[in-house]
Amino acid sequence: MSTLKDKIDFNRLPQHIAVIMDGNGRWAKEKGKMRIFGHQNGVAAVRAVSEACAELGVKYLTLYAFSTENWNRSKIEVDALMTLLSKTIAEEVKTLNDNNIRLNAIGDLQRLPKSNYDALMKAIEDTKDNDRMTLTLCLSYSGRWEIAQAAKAVAEKVKSGELEIEQIDEKCFSNFLNTKDMPDPELLVRTSGEERISNFLLWQLAYSEFYFTDKFWPDFGKEDLYESIVDYQSRERRFGKTSEQLTEKK
Ligand code: FPP
Repeated sequence: MSTLKDKIDFNRLPQHIAVIMDGNGRWAKEKGKMRIFGHQNGVAAVRAVSEACAELGVKYLTLYAFSTENWNRSKIEVDALMTLLSKTIAEEVKTLNDNNIRLNAIGDLQRLPKSNYDALMKAIEDTKDNDRMTLTLCLSYSGRWEIAQAAKAVAEKVKSGELEIEQIDEKCFSNFLNTKDMPDPELLVRTSGEERISNFLLWQLAYSEFYFTDKFWPDFGKEDLYESIVDYQSRERRFGKTSEQLTEKK
């Protein structure tokens, strides 16, 4: 069977892919089901995309699983999502270990129910030595929250005399973000036809390529991921330079 995987240039693979998994609710509604049915089926897409990234050699996959704003959804949906999260973590730790994948989580994790928090910390601990790929779940996360808490942490260091104001630059500030040990994502994928950043990785996506697809998240599979990478590889990343500057010999 021909696959888009064959079109991927492995020498120019993104190291870090970030995903806004959107459209679970609409996917379920189309089928006349409850929203949570969409989230449950979204887990299969999480599995497929994680597996595909690890197989390709992508080093970091970061998924927007629950935003700060998602706390405003109905209690029924929030509770169901939290239950699904705990269940998924418990079921997937073995697979993560079998595939040498490290689990990581970023966001205002203290806001999670204690049972979720504990399950998450245990899974992170149980997979901490894996080094094939880091799978980061963004939970109770928003980019503005992250930047604000980094600003607070920087201010504390200045106040205590551990940091001089003159030392604060982009590199220094990045070290106070939740993503301090990760490269910025080269590619952002968002499903469901929405073309917004929705408070996701605001600092880190400064130069990322954005890939949008109309597919709802539960329908997004390995081939769709390959397509996003092939599309990404067809683009010229200029980082503010001109096309001519990029082709000039160094
Ligand atoms: C967006 O769809 C999806 C979410 C807010 C939750 C994502 C959760 C999962 C994929 C399942 C659990 C994940 C893990 C990692 C265990 P939406 O509800 O905003 O859909 P809509 O825009 O169609 O309403």
